[in-house]
Parts: sequence; structure tokens; C-alpha cells
Amino acid sequence: MHHHSFTATGLALGMSGLLMVLSATPAAAAAPDGKAVFDRNCSVCHSVMPPPKSAPPIVPIASRYHQQFKSKSQGIAHMVSFIKSPSKQKAIADQQAITRFGLMPPMQLSDAELNAVAGWIWEQGVDGGWGPGSGAGRGQGKGECLRQP
Ligand code: HEC
Repeated sequence: MHHHSFTATGLALGMSGLLMVLSATPAAAAAPDGKAVFDRNCSVCHSVMPPPKSAPPIVPIASRYHQQFKSKSQGIAHMVSFIKSPSKQKAIADQQAITRFGLMPPMQLSDAELNAVAGWIWEQGVDGGWGPGSGAGRGQGKGECLRQP
């Protein structure tokens, strides 16, 4: 009897340990969340919507990328290479931003994080351009960015 319950307890403990391992693994292995990467590494300088902090806001940048690149994968590839090692030559969003804010420092992130954050930024873009006289604020369709602080 004693022996029996001891075994059952041991088994239960072993099981819960196993379950913890099992439930922790998929989360760690999953692709990083682009918005979370942004909040951790980029939001110090970049606001999502104007007004700017110490860098141009994300929605106008992303909209510029939509104008420059035909496909999302091209846009993301260029953005990832810029984030890894920013340069005046690579900057397509706004050359004046470099004069105004200085060149962005390179970010030390894994390729998975870079792709996730670039993909998220791309999704914030507005087709048809952004800025005075180009229908700013129209056709965003997401609403999500408007709720950002
Ligand atoms: C220390 C402040 C700072 C941080 C942190 C920062 N940026 Fe920037 N970023 C800037 C500034 C300043 C510019 C504008 C000047 C330039 O183009 O280098 C910029 C420009 C950009 C551009 C426009 C590039 C182009 O093609 O013109 C993108 C995209 C961008 N940042 C993405 C990111 C992402 C993603 C992160 C986080 C992983 C990040 N930034 C973190 C300061 C920052």
C-alpha cells in the first residue's frame, strides 16, 4: 500500500516535470514575434505613427518601402540588410532623416528576429504613399497602428 502510493506520487511529479518541458519547448522554438522584437529593440527610437521620437516613425517608412519594392520578400530583404548595417546608400525611406536624426546604429539581432521585425514593419505600410497630399491616413485598413501610444 505504502509502496504503491509512493510510486504514484513519484509518477505524478515526473509527469508534471515532463509536461513543463513539453509545454516550454514549442514556445522557445517558435518564430519570434515581430511586434515583440520591435517593442524590445526599436521602439526606443521609432514611434509607429508620427510624431517621431528620435527616428522616423514606422508607418511612413513602411509605406515608402511599399512604393520602392514590388514584393514583400524584396522589401524585407532590403530592410534586414539595412538594419544589420545601416548606410546612407541603403537608406531608401528618407535621406533627410539621416541629416535630421543621424544614421541608425546597427542592431545585433538573429536573422530570425530581423526577418520577423522587418515582416511586421512591412505590414504597417500603407499602399499609395504616405505624406501631405498623398492621402495620408487613408486606406490603412488595419486601425491597429492608430491605437499605438
Ligand atoms: C538608436 C535609435 C534607433 C534604434 C534603436 C533603431 N533605429 Fe531604425 N532608424 C534610426 C534613425 C535615426 C533612422 C533614420 C536615419 C537612417 O536612415 O539611418 C532609422 C531608420 C530606420 C529605417 C529606414 C531605413 C531606410 O531604408 O531608409 C528602418 C527600416 C529602421 N530604422 C528599422 C529599425 C528597426 C527594425 C529597429 C529595431 C530592430 C530599429 N530601426 C532601431 C534610429 C534607430
